[in-house]
Amino acid sequence: MKNSVYRAPKGTRDLVWPDSERRRSFIDLFSAIAGSAGYAEIVLPMFEHIEVFQRLGDGTDVVSKEMYDFEDKGGRNLALRPEQTASIVRSYAEHRPSLPWKVWYAGPNFRYERAQKGRFRQFDQVGIEALGTEDAYLDVEVIAIAWRFYESLGLKQVDLLLNSVGTLQDRIRYIEALSEYFEKQKNGLSTEAQETLISNPLRVLDSKRDEDIKVVSEAPSILEYLSDEAKNHFNKVQEGLNKLKIPYSVKPNLVRGLDYYVQTTFEFTTKSIDAAQDAIGGGGRYDGLAAEMGAPATPGVGFALGLDRTLMACEAEKTFIGPGQFLQVYVVDTTGGENSLVITDELRQKGFKVDRSFGNRSMKAQMKAADKSGAKIALIIGEDEVEKGVVTIRDLRGEEGQEEIASDSVIANLEKRLG
Ligand code: HAM
Repeated sequence: MKNSVYRAPKGTRDLVWPDSERRRSFIDLFSAIAGSAGYAEIVLPMFEHIEVFQRLGDGTDVVSKEMYDFEDKGGRNLALRPEQTASIVRSYAEHRPSLPWKVWYAGPNFRYERAQKGRFRQFDQVGIEALGTEDAYLDVEVIAIAWRFYESLGLKQVDLLLNSVGTLQDRIRYIEALSEYFEKQKNGLSTEAQETLISNPLRVLDSKRDEDIKVVSEAPSILEYLSDEAKNHFNKVQEGLNKLKIPYSVKPNLVRGLDYYVQTTFEFTTKSIDAAQDAIGGGGRYDGLAAEMGAPATPGVGFALGLDRTLMACEAEKTFIGPGQFLQVYVVDTTGGENSLVITDELRQKGFKVDRSFGNRSMKAQMKAADKSGAKIALIIGEDEVEKGVVTIRDLRGEEGQEEIASDSVIANLEKRLG
C-alpha cells in the first residue's frame, strides 16, 4: 500500500512554479483593481470561534457538513474559515471602523467537501466587502469590480447571473410559500431533495436532479414576493449594470449556498469548464449580518472569486498564462566559485533573475544545469576568461551564439539583451 501520510491531504495540493507565480500575479492584479476603487487589504485569522461561521446558516452544507471544527487545548470551540465574509463582519463588529468600510482579501479557505477537479478542501479566494450603505449603486460597483477583473484576466466566457432574494421579510414570506408548494409536490421530488426541504427549502431550487428540475420549474418565483423596497433596489442594480454595459441574466432560481443574503445575489459562471464546477465566483448583500454579530445594524455587500477555478478557466481560454521565465541568467564558473559569488550578487542587486551552480562542478555539468534552469543566457567564467579580464556570454535559447565581453561591460550587455 502506498504511504499516504507523506502526501498532501486529500483535497489539498502543493503549488510549485509556475503555478505558484501565476497565483501571486493573480492576487497582484486583483489588489491593483480593488485598490484603484478604494478597497484596502485586510488579513484575517484563518480560524475563528465557531459561532462566527454558524451565522452562515445551520441548514447550509458549509456549516452542517463541511466545517473543519475542533476544540483547542484551552477548550475553545474553533473552526477553520470556510469563507471570509463572516470574519470580516466579525472584525467590523469588534473594531467598528468608520463607514463606509471597504476591504479586499485573498487567501485560503477550508471546506470538507467531496474533493474532485476544481473542488478542493483548501482553496483560495480573492474578494471584496463594502459595509455602510444600502445604495444599490454600491452593489453595481462591487459587481463591476469583479467583472473588470475577469476582463483584465482576458476571460471572455464568463456569465453574470443576477437575482434578488428580497428583504428579510420577503424572504421569510417566500420560503413559506415555497415550502408549502414543495410539500404538496413532495412525491415528485428526489429523496435527497425531500431531506433538503426540511432543513433548507431554498436549496431545493438548486437541485440538478432530473425529477427535481421539473418540480422546481413550476415553483413560485422569488420575484413575485419582492416588496416595493426590494423591487426598487433590484431595478436600480439592473439599471446601473446596463449603464456600465455589463451583461447579465436574471435567474430567479439562483440560490447561494450561504444564508446571510438579502436583496441582491449574484454568481459568475464560465462556459469554459466542466458544468459541475462552473461557478467561479459569487456574492451579494448581507444587511442583517452585522447586527447578528452584536454591531449596530450595518448593510454590507461583497463577493468572493475562487482563485483555483478562475485559473482553470484561464487555462481553458488560454489567457493569463503566467510567467514565461523563471531565471534570466545562469552563471557558470570553473574557477572555484568566487567569481560567480561576486557577479551573481551584483546582477541580483541590479534586478536580474540570476542563479549559479555550487560545488565546483565540471564545465559540462554546469552547462547542463544552465540549460535545465530555463535561463536565457549563460555567463561563463573559466581560467582563460579571468586571465583576459573577460566573460563569455552565451545565448542559450536564441540564435545569438556566444561572444567574449569585457568583465566591466556585463551589466550594460545584459540590459541590452534582456531589456
Ligand atoms: P461561495 O459561493 O461559497 O461564496 O464561494 C465563492 C467562490 O469560491 C465560488 O464561486 C467558487 O469559485 C469558490 N469555491 C467555493 N468552494 C470551493 C471549493 N471547495 N473548491 C474550489 N473553489 C471553491 C462565498 O464564499 C461568499 N463569502 C461570497 C461573498 C462575499 N458573499 C458576500 N461577500
